Amino acid sequence: MSVGERRGRIRQALRRSARASGIVALLFSLGAGAAQAPSNAQLAGAELNRRVEKLLRQMTLEEKAGQLAQYSIGTPTGPGTGRDDYETLVRAGAVGSLFNVVGARETNHYQRIAMEQSRLKIPLLFGFDVIHGHRTLFPTPLAMASSFNPALVEQAMRMAGAEASSEGIRWVFSPMVDIARDARWGRIIEGSGEDPYLGAAMARAYVRGYQGKSLAEPTSVAASVKHFAAYGAAEAGRDYNTVDMSELTLRQVYLPPFQAAVAEGAATVMSAFNSLNGVPATANPQLLTGILRKEWGFNGFVVSDWTAVQELVNHGIALDGATAARKALTAGVEMDMESHLYGPGIPQLVRSGKLSQAVVDEAVRRVLRVKFALGLFEHPYADEKAAAYVATAEKRELARRVAEESIVLLKNEGGVLPLSTSGRKIALVGPLADSAGDMLGAWNGKGDPKDVVTLRAALERRLEGKAQLLYAKGTGILSHDPSGIQQAVKAAEASDVVIAALGEDASQMSGEAASRTRLGLPGHQEQLLQALAATGKPVVLVLFNGHPLVLENAQAHARAIVEAWHPGIEAGNAVANLLFGDVNFSARLPVSLPRSVGQLPLYYSQLSTGRPAGTTDLTRLPRSTGEKYISRYIDEQNSPLYPFGYGLSYTTFDFSPPVLSVPVLKAAAVKKRGQGVMRVKSQVRNTGKVRGTVVAQLYLGLRGASTAQPVRQLVGFERLTLAPGESRDVEFTLGFQELSFLDANAARVVEPGTQYELWVGDSSEATQHARFAME
Ligand code: BGC
Repeated sequence: MSVGERRGRIRQALRRSARASGIVALLFSLGAGAAQAPSNAQLAGAELNRRVEKLLRQMTLEEKAGQLAQYSIGTPTGPGTGRDDYETLVRAGAVGSLFNVVGARETNHYQRIAMEQSRLKIPLLFGFDVIHGHRTLFPTPLAMASSFNPALVEQAMRMAGAEASSEGIRWVFSPMVDIARDARWGRIIEGSGEDPYLGAAMARAYVRGYQGKSLAEPTSVAASVKHFAAYGAAEAGRDYNTVDMSELTLRQVYLPPFQAAVAEGAATVMSAFNSLNGVPATANPQLLTGILRKEWGFNGFVVSDWTAVQELVNHGIALDGATAARKALTAGVEMDMESHLYGPGIPQLVRSGKLSQAVVDEAVRRVLRVKFALGLFEHPYADEKAAAYVATAEKRELARRVAEESIVLLKNEGGVLPLSTSGRKIALVGPLADSAGDMLGAWNGKGDPKDVVTLRAALERRLEGKAQLLYAKGTGILSHDPSGIQQAVKAAEASDVVIAALGEDASQMSGEAASRTRLGLPGHQEQLLQALAATGKPVVLVLFNGHPLVLENAQAHARAIVEAWHPGIEAGNAVANLLFGDVNFSARLPVSLPRSVGQLPLYYSQLSTGRPAGTTDLTRLPRSTGEKYISRYIDEQNSPLYPFGYGLSYTTFDFSPPVLSVPVLKAAAVKKRGQGVMRVKSQVRNTGKVRGTVVAQLYLGLRGASTAQPVRQLVGFERLTLAPGESRDVEFTLGFQELSFLDANAARVVEPGTQYELWVGDSSEATQHARFAME
């Protein structure tokens, strides 16, 4: 069985058992040496280090290697394949961490063996892929990023951490902070999108949510920031593929969310599968030791991704497992996830003189620090008597709020939305209208489809006695059978308006190992949509999907388009509240939506090029050399169909031109003062008829610098809720972090003689503009 198949089975088994038992920056980022956050400092305290050193002195080489080994329950540990093998290993002190162990009883079972039967009684650290919720599933991370509301995401992830820790899971493999600019990559849904500034803000929010004020709180879980680094730039969007990029791009675009998470105190980091500039990330000393430990002062430990240490052989930089283990460990990967190489291999490497004892000791120190900081030695067990999970009103309320703030209104032609209920017939069509499992999204942990309110269920409840709902599935998500389309068309013909719930399957079509080359609606869904549109009835397209899709076709056939992503357990209620206008749309796109796959990778903060297309009309073939020899396609526009930061509301907003607190800045003073050197103010007004929330966004462009800089880059955002006619000032503060950039030596600088452009508005196409000079 291949690794992939094996893991697929483990996940399936976990899902089954869960069901059965009923439980189941910144472009201009933080500077080097950022101040230590409380939890990072916690990992460096004198008392903690004293305890670590004392324990380390008592450990045999085998016990040390054991602390660096991590196994997933369900995979073979060696000679056998059953539970006994794990028990034997735990008893021998040959395991530091287990993951995919489900439920308090099970975690306690293994923990008791570690605490009562192993020689040194070092507690196990249990991990799990809690990615966007543990039992209460929130929208996928890409969806949550659409909220531009880090405080709300923090609150949601606090709940996720508390649910996980109640089962003895004190370590989550999240947040995934990989910047992703290629919609083909399935894992784009696991992160916060294309932008380093938004990505860093979200990264901090996840870490704060998981780790709370102190790792030692029983409801806190250690975060694992992943995948370090640049995994999101896999060539051609193909999963696990090679990454080759300049140090400038790495530091300006891909590292800021990691640095932000580490500065916030993330206790662990997960190394990535990909190679970076020829060196696999899992054996990359520049990343793992140079940047992470030395530059950023990271005190926690690094875990490899699943079998990534063994995969160094496939990458071609090790001829055997022992060499792979040595290279990974010396580069800075302290724990081996599932390669089964550290546990048995490290003692041999040390005894044969190929690996220094000091490297092993340092790795063990780091792992022990996290265990001590979590308070595991004092409180190793979960409470088995705690009440079984219930999706309480409080949990649902938070899940619904997050979903409502994550769903983006892309199009609303002729004000077809909000819908009214009274006396109308509404057709609900499509394979995602009533598909509970898909609402949970990819990486749905211990989520249970039974907790999901689908759109069909929500509409049935809401419309009962008020309007008639005609439901027809029409076609499957991936089905090649168009025979149901006719029935859907009949339902549409008999109705006043059609809601088409279309999109992607959550687990097969998005997440890991789910890259796509075609990004239209799969199966016969495009055909279904066209047939619905042909009835002449207004079609409201509600998309439930992971990948940012190519919507050119949908755009032509739907009067309204709602990007709901995979919104979690309150999917149906959240969508219904928005469609009927009980709640106003406020989400904004965290990624650019392409017009066609050929444009990928696509992102707003591109460099200008020597031959920018400027205002040339790119909708037609070039008719002159001036129209031809520029950076363009001959058959597609350069712009996205919908830009980053974009999203509609039931009201409209306008922004006054930005007003600057000072007309010019002096480079030397900016460097010296650091923070708060310029304030940028704009007046925002609700110009429509209903209350609404706008995400005010500030973009900055820089010209005349020694290295080419993006045409614009997000440097601030704020959600403002305004009553109709109400105005309020939004104020952003810029300092060295926002105004500086990397020069050719990757040093962070501000340069005299540069020109700064600012735009404020509610998308990356904001037009209200101001400019100032740096002297
Ligand atoms: C993924 C990680 C995940 C790990 C453990 C890997 O395949 O890349 O993101 O945390 O598996 O399940």
